[in-house]
Amino acid sequence: MKSYRIAPSILSADFARLGDEVRRVIDSGADFIHFDVMDNHYVPNLTVGPLVAQAIKPYCRRADGSPVPLDVHLMVEPVDALAQMFADCGADIISFHPEASRHVDRTLQLIRAAGCRAGLVFNPASGLEVLDYVLDKVDLVLIMSVNPGFGGQGFIAEALRKIALVRQRLDAYRQHSGREVLLEVDGGIKVDNIAAAAAAGADTFVAGSAIFGQPDYAAVIAALRAELARVA
Ligand code: DX5
Ligand code: ZN
Repeated sequence: MKSYRIAPSILSADFARLGDEVRRVIDSGADFIHFDVMDNHYVPNLTVGPLVAQAIKPYCRRADGSPVPLDVHLMVEPVDALAQMFADCGADIISFHPEASRHVDRTLQLIRAAGCRAGLVFNPASGLEVLDYVLDKVDLVLIMSVNPGFGGQGFIAEALRKIALVRQRLDAYRQHSGREVLLEVDGGIKVDNIAAAAAAGADTFVAGSAIFGQPDYAAVIAALRAELARVA
């Protein structure tokens, strides 16, 4: 079976008990911790900054001590200064929306130079052209299956077609470069649609309300994985 990653979005967690929530979801089988940063400018919502990333970083470990990557999704404009701050505060992966950066190639280089993996995020209406000349500097492509800004929205099915297009590109790229780029999907992922996203080619799945909206996180993550196991 292919390897899949589940990335719970703490946007839907109880922020009054954030450290406990991170620990619980890791004990329940999370592979990444997805951290949504919104600035009330690029998106119409305001969430958390580098201080909160720094505060939860010590919780991003499994019981055996192995680290769980902190997957920071920047919905901010401009990008560069905040990307650097998140890198300094413990981010492992930093993804940004190309529309929000004046110089996408420079931002990718900055994130990598700060020791992080770099990701590009594509909104539902965004085309993929920006990938044409920068794939060598990209470690993750994130396809939005909702418009960014809020948890709990419905999955936009058109994202499946875009995931399939990115899958083709990444497979071709791996053939000649030998390099694996992750393909993550974010927004409205639930037990009843994760298999379709995986079949289209995604390998990493953000889920916020699906997990934190239920009392038993381990049961939801197990149900998500059971669906993934059905995909060839
Ligand atoms: C939306 C965020 C998502 C969101 C996902 O702007 O990027 O990560 O938290 O939440 P659900 O899974 O509830 O759609
Ligand atoms: Zn996100």
